[in-house]
Amino acid sequence: MTTGITIPPHPPSMHGANYAGGAIANVTCMRSGCHADAASAPRSPESCNTCHGDFTASASNLLASAPPKSVTGGTATTARGVGAHQKHLVTNIVGVAVKCQECHTVPTQLSSPGHLGTLPAEVAFNGQLALLPTAGGTLVPKPSYDPSTLKCNNTYCHGNWRLRKATSISTSQFAYTDSAMVGLNFSPTWTNGPADGSCGSCHGIPPKGHIAVSLSTCGTCHFGIVSTDGKIIDKAKHINGKVNVFDQEYAF
Ligand code: HEC
Ligand code: HEC
Ligand code: HEC
Ligand code: HEC
Repeated sequence: MTTGITIPPHPPSMHGANYAGGAIANVTCMRSGCHADAASAPRSPESCNTCHGDFTASASNLLASAPPKSVTGGTATTARGVGAHQKHLVTNIVGVAVKCQECHTVPTQLSSPGHLGTLPAEVAFNGQLALLPTAGGTLVPKPSYDPSTLKCNNTYCHGNWRLRKATSISTSQFAYTDSAMVGLNFSPTWTNGPADGSCGSCHGIPPKGHIAVSLSTCGTCHFGIVSTDGKIIDKAKHINGKVNVFDQEYAF
């Protein structure tokens, strides 16, 4: 197994039968003080934030097990093990927080199958959003992550969608300049930072097939979604898998 983990030196002694020491009273991970959370409470060395994530956080906080730090100790967003984790999980500005299971098969315990293998980590699209069918079910995204280029391809989230004029409600058809509006089906690079999540990367401003309007006016029809200075106001209504216009919400 090549995990790339660097384990700091441990006391030269026999291991106890369990992390509390078992029959060996003076050797215990749980009382070593080394495996302790932010509140100095003892934790198992199998806590999810021991080998990756924030080792000082509360052990029950799954979010804290996401990088940084990476398995090999990386903390920069340019490191593949770190990348855009925090942007998706915590500091999102264009949509709501993404969950671990939308990009990984999350192990329930350390020894879960597929967990401790060789780096790079496996990326699996288990959520509904990346795979959302649009255009009345005729466009079905097949998202994939390419570990050689670090690109995430064909997700609904980054613009792999289509909305057809013919099946759109009659009061909305004026907004089309073509038979359909489409996203840009962008392939962001995991380590590229803000540029790959910028306004206009996933769909045009406005999208292809949409009447020409300026960024400052989006909110006059997409109520409450975009401010006059071009920022997302209600993150729960953007990248939520639904059309949101004129205070209505419906499927693609
Ligand atoms: C938006 C998708 C996405 C989400 C959400 C996400 N990850 Fe990841 N994760 C990735 C990608 C991409 C990689 C990098 C794979 C590679 O190295 O090629 C990765 C790598 C990792 C790694 C390996 C780090 C290393 O050192 O190589 C761990 C551990 C991990 N993720 C844990 C988590 C946990 C825990 C959560 C939730 C709290 C989470 N991830 C949420 C996409 C995601
Ligand atoms: C002993 C160190 C260690 C502990 C403890 C640990 N992990 Fe990991 N984890 C790793 C390594 C190493 C990888 C990357 C190797 C790989 O992808 O096969 C990884 C990868 C991951 C990934 C990315 C997906 C994957 O399987 O590659 C997720 C999500 C993850 N761990 C969650 C967890 C959770 C949840 C726990 C607690 C139940 C946990 N880890 C405990 C070492 C650990
Ligand atoms: C990460 C990809 C991504 C980025 C970046 C992004 N959008 Fe979107 N946007 C989408 C998706 C996907 C939809 C499709 C509808 C949905 O799921 O909410 C959408 C839909 C919209 C809509 C239609 C209303 C709605 O939500 O249905 C507006 C308006 C909009 N985006 C404006 C913006 C503006 C302004 C920015 C920059 C501040 C931006 N978008 C950045 C992915 C993105
Ligand atoms: C004059 C009203 C109006 C303005 C202004 C407007 N839109 Fe739209 N937009 C619509 C209508 C109507 C639809 C079509 C909805 C349908 O077919 O059901 C639409 C559809 C969309 C869609 C695809 C469906 C969805 O809701 O996700 C996106 C993305 C979008 N607009 C983005 C924008 C952006 C970005 C701006 C500002 C640059 C903008 N729109 C300005 C009326 C408008």
